[in-house]
Amino acid sequence: MPPDRPRVYVTRRLPGDALDILARACDVRLHEGELPPPYEELARETARSEALVCLLTDRVDAALIAGAPRLRAISTMAVGVDHIDLAAATARGIPVGHTPGVLTETTADLAFALLLAAARRIVEADAFVRAGRWRTWSPELLLGRDVHGATLGIVGFGAIGQAVARRAAGFGMRVLYASRRDVPFDAATRVPLEELLAASDFVSLHVPLTAETERMIGERELRLMRSTAILVNTARGGIIDQPALVRALHEGWIAGAALDVAAVEPIPAGDPLLSAPNVVLAPHIGSASVATRSRMASMAVDNVLAALRGERMPHCANPQVYGPAQP
Ligand code: DGY
Repeated sequence: MPPDRPRVYVTRRLPGDALDILARACDVRLHEGELPPPYEELARETARSEALVCLLTDRVDAALIAGAPRLRAISTMAVGVDHIDLAAATARGIPVGHTPGVLTETTADLAFALLLAAARRIVEADAFVRAGRWRTWSPELLLGRDVHGATLGIVGFGAIGQAVARRAAGFGMRVLYASRRDVPFDAATRVPLEELLAASDFVSLHVPLTAETERMIGERELRLMRSTAILVNTARGGIIDQPALVRALHEGWIAGAALDVAAVEPIPAGDPLLSAPNVVLAPHIGSASVATRSRMASMAVDNVLAALRGERMPHCANPQVYGPAQP
């Protein structure tokens, strides 16, 4: 670490002791408050800093990177880096740190929780009881769909997709997956996306948001799904064409959806998604367990400290900045 303490802009208070650790070695400039800094503030503060520690709510675009000549490291407390212009950072030789692995199981837990909630109408049932509408046990009250024995289609079979598949095995589900590559995994069958959509009772999305996956689930794909199927998304909202999903829910192309993410977050008041039928919503809490969020914060800080010491980031989303990989 150079003798003068590098200035690091941190866009939100982080859980655990991560900030204290960072502050031992750096001049930490923290944006206080619950909401993200406005873009102008983010750009201004980053321009004065050697490193940026950000969240997925911060748009780190090419203009912001170009305006920050001192910047030597970007580290996000997220696995997804779609909020950062990776190409612009790479062109400048700036490593971008992220937090893979640590949130895999926690996010898979939430995907399964949402799947169960939508299948068994848990949110409706809770509201029903609280509204004083529970008058008797009734043979046809709040009938849902069986999860055990059903077919689960997993789109994107990376670490989180596979963690969801392991949970599905415990429920006796048949698991299909669509992926660019074959993954050795017992009891899961790789099929083309179209086949997966047509054959699944539940479809769970686990691809990163890229130019290739943006709105990959649109009207055509939703119409391929069963009218009894439920769509689960804990990845990124931009993967689904949201207006098409709203139509699908209203017109019954599919039976329901359970979404932890949305095209625009937070979902604006009055957005048609909020009044669509049979949809369970959560505010992007896939990785939100006490232990996981604290580990993510530590990883984000470890990444930035390594870069400022001139070392390789332990978890770098653009390792090309370190030159060609050694054979
Ligand atoms: C991520 O890390 O990308 C998740 O969406 C939030 O934890």
